[in-house]
Amino acid sequence: MRVLGIETSCDETAVAIVDDGISLISNGVASSMAQHALYGGVVPEIAARSHIEMIIPTIELSLKQAGCSWNQIDGIAVTYGAGLGGSLLIGVLTARTLAITNHKPLTACNHVLGHIFANFIQRSSLPNYILPDHLPQFPLIAVVVSGGHSQLVLFEDYFSYRLLGRTQDDAIGEAFDKVAKILGLPYPGGPSIAQIAQKGNADAYDLPRAKVAKYDFSFSGPKTAVLRLAQQLAGESYDFPSYRLQERLSEAQKADIAASFQRSVVKTVTEKVKLAVAEFNPRQVLLAGGVAANDCLRQTLAASLDCEFLVPDIKLCTDNGAMIAALGGWQFKYGYGIADPFSLDIAPNLSM
Ligand code: KG4
Ligand code: ZN
Repeated sequence: MRVLGIETSCDETAVAIVDDGISLISNGVASSMAQHALYGGVVPEIAARSHIEMIIPTIELSLKQAGCSWNQIDGIAVTYGAGLGGSLLIGVLTARTLAITNHKPLTACNHVLGHIFANFIQRSSLPNYILPDHLPQFPLIAVVVSGGHSQLVLFEDYFSYRLLGRTQDDAIGEAFDKVAKILGLPYPGGPSIAQIAQKGNADAYDLPRAKVAKYDFSFSGPKTAVLRLAQQLAGESYDFPSYRLQERLSEAQKADIAASFQRSVVKTVTEKVKLAVAEFNPRQVLLAGGVAANDCLRQTLAASLDCEFLVPDIKLCTDNGAMIAALGGWQFKYGYGIADPFSLDIAPNLSM
């Protein structure tokens, strides 16, 4: 089954085509990131307006890249949650309209599940994708690390899963973004922290780690620890404006803080995953979400786990249409999430 997937939950207008949930034949994306960078974070109104402008050209681009017409598309998949309301609306209304006018079945996708299913893409007719050469083996543990979510999920089968734990406050990507802001690094913060951390000493500062339930996370604690450390190094008190701390820190101090923060959160995630592997004995562990692009996290997990460890290609870690087209393929196969194109609504607070 050939599925066209539409993803507009945040600032990326992304459309891709995937055959049978495993074979990627086009992957188009238009990002409004540069406009948000001016404000240091995603501005929902700008994101929604950009989706309106970019959605039709991105769909056309994706069809062209795949060399196919609407006659050759068997179904449409769209992210209906979680995400920004205005952004989700553009994707869902476009998908509904296209499903009605082209007489195609529609399936509604959970964004986080999409990140996980990016790992199931095995082949690509596009150049430069590093993909696993086999399908998932159950039971498996998915480690979701994105800008909006941080959670461990145990899968017994494609659509049979249970949440083991989640963050009690900030998501891990959100913490990367906020720490980058304190250090005066450009948005998005994750790649900025990873880059500057290469020049830093990860042993420079021992950041305290939060005590939460076995499989839960807390990333607000490490972020606040960075704020306090920056205040201390700058010789300023708690009420000094955090956006001015960057002026008081040297480049070497920033690099050391970034490296220490990155190592601390990577260590937390790795320890929790190891605990879950020991308890549930999965055949595989999958990494998913934007922070899965982090090299330090990828390498540390790969070196620490006894079972097979899968990561998506870097291009499939941050938000993309391929993960939704892949999930859509599996949903059509299993009859899961089939939606009425006349009534499908958005679910901004959808959870797994
Ligand atoms: O999955 P995603 O594209 O959007 C959400 O669903 O939230 O994740 C975006 C997050 C941002 O917080 C960004 O800073 C983070 O992923 N990120 C990274 C890296 N690349 C993106 N974090 C750490 N290291 C990276 N290389
Ligand atoms: Zn995402």
